[in-house]
Amino acid sequence: VIVGAGSPAQVPALIDDLSQGRDATLPLRVQYARAADRHELHFSPRDLMGEMLRPVQRPRFVAIVASSELATALMANPVAPDGFVVEGHVAGGHNAPPRGPLALDSDGQPQYGPADEVDCTQMVKLGKPFWLAGSYGKPGGLQRALRRGAAGIQVGTAFALCQESGIADPLKRAILQRVADGQTSVRTDPRASPTTFPFKVFQFPESLSDAAVYRGRKRTCDAGMLRTPFKTESGGVGYRCPAESETLFAKKGGRPQNTVGRMCLCNGLLATIGLGAVRPGGYREPPLITLGAHVSDLRAFLPAGRTSYTAADVIARLEAPLTSTSFSTPLARSC
Ligand SMILES: Cc1cc2nc3c(=O)[nH]c(=O)nc-3n(C[C@H](O)[C@H](O)[C@H](O)COP(=O)(O)O)c2cc1C
Repeated sequence: VIVGAGSPAQVPALIDDLSQGRDATLPLRVQYARAADRHELHFSPRDLMGEMLRPVQRPRFVAIVASSELATALMANPVAPDGFVVEGHVAGGHNAPPRGPLALDSDGQPQYGPADEVDCTQMVKLGKPFWLAGSYGKPGGLQRALRRGAAGIQVGTAFALCQESGIADPLKRAILQRVADGQTSVRTDPRASPTTFPFKVFQFPESLSDAAVYRGRKRTCDAGMLRTPFKTESGGVGYRCPAESETLFAKKGGRPQNTVGRMCLCNGLLATIGLGAVRPGGYREPPLITLGAHVSDLRAFLPAGRTSYTAADVIARLEAPLTSTSFSTPLARSC
């Protein structure tokens, strides 16, 4: 079980309970609720499985962290993680925000600095295996991670565009064409994600990264996977998402400025894997593509005459001994 999402402090105890078939409880933060009000999510394996319920071997738990401090804090919990994925801010998907007050560069991207580099010597001291993530999926990346004391690496971007990945084929082909043409741009968007975490957005004309496509989409929240609970005036629990209709969000007591620039990750990411909703009238939900900062490195897989590559090609390139031909792109040279 590999979980990040802020601090996964509760997860090891959940895994203990569920693997033993015990009822599990997860405390929920409900906005505006009084401290005395307890909100919890209950799950009873026995209610679901009845007599069929058997304990299972406890799966190991690997926490995704962006700092050795968080890893150290998690180790102090009664049930500590069995290992860590240490993810840097160049990785695809969500990124941890920079340490300290948020400063943006001239393009509105969060500015990361030396304080955001993870101290691997501290990770080694924790005595648990860890895997480094964030632009390690290129020649030399694995060796670099091993030298720093890691057990290995976690790779996302290189696999996201291989033949086996779930990204819809026509979209994948178009993205790879851009990679081959050397025309890639990835923005760390501090506003896009309703979670408020920075999110890597690949800039692509027919996707939500395009201002006209973004404006042309009617904001709607019908998948609801990133909604947050809040206490309603009548004392119940409501759900809202800052990427939903601004009017609805405001009606639910949300602050209008919280909606600015938010993207519907649910509908956008579903569209990216070819499961986008088609609205009455034929409007197709546009994709939202997330890839890591070093996507341009994938050009190495696309020499003249090749338009695709496989997961095995990625593995082979990661395992290949370093030679001068491994460094066929300027970015690869930087590792
Ligand atoms: C398309 C894509 C989707 C991802 N989705 C998630 C996710 O849902 N949860 C998560 O913890 N990490 C996610 N990641 C991050 C990867 O698990 C991985 O840590 C990261 O991609 C490694 O850096 P790299 O992209 O430079 O290889 C995603 C990455 C990509 C490229």
